[in-house]
Amino acid sequence: MKLQSILLPYGLFLGPMAGYSDHAMRQMCRKMGAEMTVTEMVSAKAICFGDSKTSLLSRVFFDETPTALQLFGHECDILSEATRKVEGGEAGYARPSAIDINMGCPMKKIISGGDGGALMKSPLQIEALVKAVALSTSLPVTVKIRAGWDEDHINATECAKAAESGGAQMVCVHGRTVKQVYSGKANWAVIGAVKGAVSIPVVGNGDILSGEDALRMKQETGCDGIMVARGAIGNPFLFREIHAALAGEPYTPPTITERVETALSQLRQACLETSEHHAIPASRGQIAAYVFGLRGAADVRRRVNCAKTYAEVEDILLGFARQSSEEN
Ligand SMILES: Cc1cc2nc3c(=O)[nH]c(=O)nc-3n(C[C@H](O)[C@H](O)[C@H](O)COP(=O)(O)O)c2cc1C
Repeated sequence: MKLQSILLPYGLFLGPMAGYSDHAMRQMCRKMGAEMTVTEMVSAKAICFGDSKTSLLSRVFFDETPTALQLFGHECDILSEATRKVEGGEAGYARPSAIDINMGCPMKKIISGGDGGALMKSPLQIEALVKAVALSTSLPVTVKIRAGWDEDHINATECAKAAESGGAQMVCVHGRTVKQVYSGKANWAVIGAVKGAVSIPVVGNGDILSGEDALRMKQETGCDGIMVARGAIGNPFLFREIHAALAGEPYTPPTITERVETALSQLRQACLETSEHHAIPASRGQIAAYVFGLRGAADVRRRVNCAKTYAEVEDILLGFARQSSEEN
C-alpha cells in the first residue's frame, strides 16, 4: 500500500505521546482537524510475548483511520514478528494505516536497551530494520527520528536516507537531538536538510504551538506535513488554528465553555474505553491543560486532582465555566 494515498491536504499529524495520545485524545484532535494520528509507542517485544496491556495500547479504532501504530525495538526479527501480529488489527478493531518505527525516544530505559533514539547511532541498522519490517507487511512503514544523537552528531539526513533505502514511505523529523530530550529549541534547519535529501514525504516536528508556527515551519523547511505533539495537550483546537493559518483564514479561539465541554467529552470517552478508576487519574494532566492560563485554573487543578469520578470532575468544570462566564 502506498502511504501517499492517505496523506491528506494539509498533512497535519497528531504526534505519538506515551501516556497522552490515547484513542480519546486522538479522536478529539481528529475532530478538530488532525488528519493522521499515531498511537503511543508500544514495545515490539511485548507484542511478541502477547502482553495484554500492550495490546490495549496498540488498538486502532474504526473511527480514527488513518492512524499509524508506532513500535519500538531494535531487532529485525522481533520488529517483523510484532508487525505481522498487529498488521491485521485486533479482533473487533481496525487495521493500522501504517507501521511507524520509533527512532527518537530519549528515555533512559528505552535507549539503554538499544531502542528509540539509540538507533540514530547506526544508519546501517536503521536501513536493515526498515527493510525487515517492510518485507514482512503490506502496510506502509514510516520512521520517526530526531536531528541526531547530540550536537556533535547531527545525522538526520543520513538516517532518513537509510530509512528511505530500506523502504520507508515517510520520515518524521523532530528537530532536537536525543541528548536534548525536550530542552532548548527544535532545529528546523535539520528538517529542511532532510527534505532536500530524500524523495519520500518529510513531516516536520518540534515546537509547533500556533498556526503561525505551522506556517513558518512549512515556509522555512518545505516539509510535506507537520506533526504537533505537546501543543495539542488540552488544546486540540490548535489543529483548527493551523488549518485556518494554512488556508489564510481567520481563527476564532474557543470560549471557556467550549474548552470545558471538549475536556469533558474527551474524559467521557476515556472513561468509556477503560474505566473511571483508570481514566480519571490518567487524565488529570490533560484537564489541567484545558484550563491552563485561565483565571481560577490552579483551583480547578487542585480540585480535579482529588476527584475520583466523572461526575465530580464534571461538577468542578461546569461550575468553573459558569463562574467564568458570569465574570466576563
Ligand atoms: C509525554 C510525551 C510522550 C511522548 N511519547 C512519544 C512516543 O511514544 N513516541 C514518539 O515517537 N514520540 C513521543 N514523544 C515525542 C513527541 O511525539 C514529539 O516528537 C515531541 O514532543 C516534539 O514535538 P512537540 O514540540 O510538538 O511536542 C513524546 C513526547 C512527550 C512530551
